[in-house]
Amino acid sequence: MPSVVVVGAQWGDEGKGKVTDFLARQADVVVRYQGGSNAGHTVHVNDQEFRLHLVPSGILYPGTICVIGNGVVVDPGALVSELDHLESRGVDTSGLRISDRAHVIFPYHHLLDAAEEDQKGQLRIGTTRRGIGPSYADKAARIGLRMADLLDWPLFEELVTRNLQAKNNLLSKVYGLPTVDPGEILDNYRQYAERLRPYITDTSLLVNNALDRGQSVVFEGAQGTMLDIDHGTYPYVTSSHPTAGGACIGAGIGPTRVDVVVGVVKAYTSRVGDGPFPTELTDELGNWLRDRGGEYGTTTGRPRRVGWLDAVALRYAVRVSGIDGIAITKLDVLSGLDVLKIAVGYQYQGEVLTEVPASAAVMYRCEPVYEEMAGFRESLQDVRSMDGLPAAARAYLQRIEELLGVPIVLVSIGSERAQTFPVKDLFAVRRAVTGL
Ligand code: GDP
Ligand code: IMO
Ligand code: MG
Repeated sequence: MPSVVVVGAQWGDEGKGKVTDFLARQADVVVRYQGGSNAGHTVHVNDQEFRLHLVPSGILYPGTICVIGNGVVVDPGALVSELDHLESRGVDTSGLRISDRAHVIFPYHHLLDAAEEDQKGQLRIGTTRRGIGPSYADKAARIGLRMADLLDWPLFEELVTRNLQAKNNLLSKVYGLPTVDPGEILDNYRQYAERLRPYITDTSLLVNNALDRGQSVVFEGAQGTMLDIDHGTYPYVTSSHPTAGGACIGAGIGPTRVDVVVGVVKAYTSRVGDGPFPTELTDELGNWLRDRGGEYGTTTGRPRRVGWLDAVALRYAVRVSGIDGIAITKLDVLSGLDVLKIAVGYQYQGEVLTEVPASAAVMYRCEPVYEEMAGFRESLQDVRSMDGLPAAARAYLQRIEELLGVPIVLVSIGSERAQTFPVKDLFAVRRAVTGL
């Protein structure tokens, strides 16, 4: 298998975990390249459900090396809990590797995330309150601490103490909140350091060496294109780069090392948190879709907002990530509808926009222009090929391919591992795109 970047093409929760797990079958290395424990990637294996937050979705295959890349912000407490949980369920976690350059999340990041959100009131982002934004802010401000620092105790102690002075001032003087106790943080982080020490290494070197040996590497994105800090619906975004370019920075590889980019597209749209969502359904149909699709946050349990497929946003995702092929998920959820709608433009002040506007304020005021197609009622549970799909479902997929200008490479029709079928060979897709 070529080296593949798996990106979310919408607002997250497209089924990246499931698609990564499917591709990881043939992979030697799986790398998470951005985000943190804001992500929730669900994988079903033999009636067992695994909800992964920081650990890459390849961990369920013994022997696969699973890398938490330098672009990830690691909450060591959350990671230790996740590892304990996986180990208690018999999962071998010895293949995990953590970048020595990944940034460390602290309790004050969580507190500041919540405080900033509360202060914004109506203008809140609806973050997961996992400290993601404040941690990336410290990284950009060059006061962040990295996993390598965690292994250098006297220095770590000094830097945490320095940061805590400033953060405690912020918490107490700006937000009127209780301060954080340095002793407690240092005690806990000393234990995390010892627990995580064996996994911490130069993962860029590891990944590049694997690629040099011709091994297969899957880069697993978290969140989705429309949550990208540059390309998403700013400011209603996360603080990292879920787009394909993020894989290069966040794993420490050059762009020339990526063979194929697969965009994961849910057969409809969901969004959790605030921000514009032109195709949102706030009616009974929306409630039906949310329940049928089990659209409740994997990390926070929040009900997800749901709506029709948005081809304007998807074409944009294809563009900004250079998506070569798409993996369609949750097609089964649409079974039971007489009509399916796809947004092909946005009506805005008497004009039809065919590209995503930069301004969230403009996007809030966009009304979708829909194309309608016949729906289907058959259950897709046992379908294992394109030919097995009802004609209307096939027509829906074909229309998506036409609108996005990229082929479908994989279809998922249920949450189980077996409920996935490949449609196109990834090498063939690559050849078609590059001629190589
Ligand atoms: P991710 O964050 O992109 O990995 O997606 P999540 O795991 O947060 O959300 C996707 C949800 O849909 C999970 O509960 C999956 O088990 C489930 N899922 C994935 N693919 C399918 C599918 O094809 N059909 C159905 N019905 N559920 C799916
Ligand atoms: P996966 O990887 C869906 C959303 C939050 C909020 C915004 C910013 O499972 O697809 P943050 O905590 O990152 O500062 O929140 O981003 N968000 C997600 N939405 N899936 C996710 O991850 C998300 N991670 C963050 O709801 O709107
Ligand atoms: Mg998720």
